[in-house]
Amino acid sequence: MQITISPAATVSGFVRPPGDKSISHRYAIIAAIAEGASRIHNYSTGADCQSTLSCLRDLGAVVENREGVLAISGHGRYGLRQPSGMLDAGNSGSTIRMLSGILAAQPFSTSIGGDESLSRRPMDRIMKPLGDMGATIHARAGRFPPLQIEGGPLRAIDYTLPVASAQVKSCILLAGLYAGGATTVREPVRTRDHTELALREFGAEVESARGVIRVQANPRLEARELLVPGDLSSAAFFMVAALLVPDSELAILSVGLNPTRAALVEFLVSAGARIRVTNVQERGGELIGDLQIKGGRVLGGLIEKELTAALIDEIPVLAVLGAASELGLTVRDAGELRVKETDRIATLAENFRRMGVSMEVMAEGFHVPGKQRFAGAQVDSFGDHRIAMACAVAALAADTETTILNADAASVSFPEFFDTLRGITA
Ligand code: S3P
Repeated sequence: MQITISPAATVSGFVRPPGDKSISHRYAIIAAIAEGASRIHNYSTGADCQSTLSCLRDLGAVVENREGVLAISGHGRYGLRQPSGMLDAGNSGSTIRMLSGILAAQPFSTSIGGDESLSRRPMDRIMKPLGDMGATIHARAGRFPPLQIEGGPLRAIDYTLPVASAQVKSCILLAGLYAGGATTVREPVRTRDHTELALREFGAEVESARGVIRVQANPRLEARELLVPGDLSSAAFFMVAALLVPDSELAILSVGLNPTRAALVEFLVSAGARIRVTNVQERGGELIGDLQIKGGRVLGGLIEKELTAALIDEIPVLAVLGAASELGLTVRDAGELRVKETDRIATLAENFRRMGVSMEVMAEGFHVPGKQRFAGAQVDSFGDHRIAMACAVAALAADTETTILNADAASVSFPEFFDTLRGITA
């Protein structure tokens, strides 16, 4: 599907972003190994989170949509059953990496794969720690999906993550629920802590201090009623849209403001954006609040080291903002961008080139000079949801219409994205 976007005169109104993708995956997976019926409000509508649900159904969990509330019934940590065929994680790295932690401990073997993009993403980062725990996993060419996981008893490990990855951390912590004793994960750079918070909500014992996270095996996980906060990474597209288009004023309601994710707000404010945070409250260990954004050119800035990990999903749209900023944007230490749904450094650079915007590409980052204008063009998501949405935001600030090829990729995290965008630019 292709979509044509016209330049916007202003961005205004309010947006209630869909349920957070990261938190939705975690609540669903843990609910499926808890005892009883959990109820999850505002579960993500994105295809990735639906992939997690279909895998859980294939593993025997009862998953129902009851008037917009997701009900998942689990029978405890060993209540899953062997699926009849290969589990399909679709486009979702979170699904395959996090579920593998649980599959490695089951008394049966499973295979799990996904689409063409997922089949090119590295899985050795979970195979190594799960192997240390005693699991046997075979992968295509030793590191790519599909994975053949021979489940069995696991032992606790103490593991230092070589790359900052919340998916890998979560995979190990979930496997740790089945290992004898306490499993420790050390992260050199802090990553999103939704798994730690969710596990505690369901009754597991998890300690976390100064980058050392420890989970105790054999907890009794009990069903819960939980609310998924709005997705800040999805809201980021509208926040940048409001900052890009002059005289804009936008409210983002009920969005997740977990401190391991809210670096986005801090970064934008430090770059000169006018953002007010209000109505902050805690729900299920997660912070939720509202944001009020006023348009106006920002300064730009530098994203490197820990900040890169904290903003990893927002970098494509921040690059768009960088091009229109005073001083431009430099991103370093971002080799991980090359192994996302696409090589995001390459797909961004190609689309910027088509829109007449210059971008200097480096092995693990890039620099976008400031004070540039986007030219309307034909761009391509290359099948990557965040590239589709970043291009749509650039299109709002372009001189003429822009057509986005493969725009339907947005539905991987945000099926309502283009309708919502229309609503705030009409
Ligand atoms: C996620 C972690 C990040 C992020 C992804 C979601 C998660 O991936 O890019 O969109 O929910 O844990 P990595 O763990 O590969 O950094």
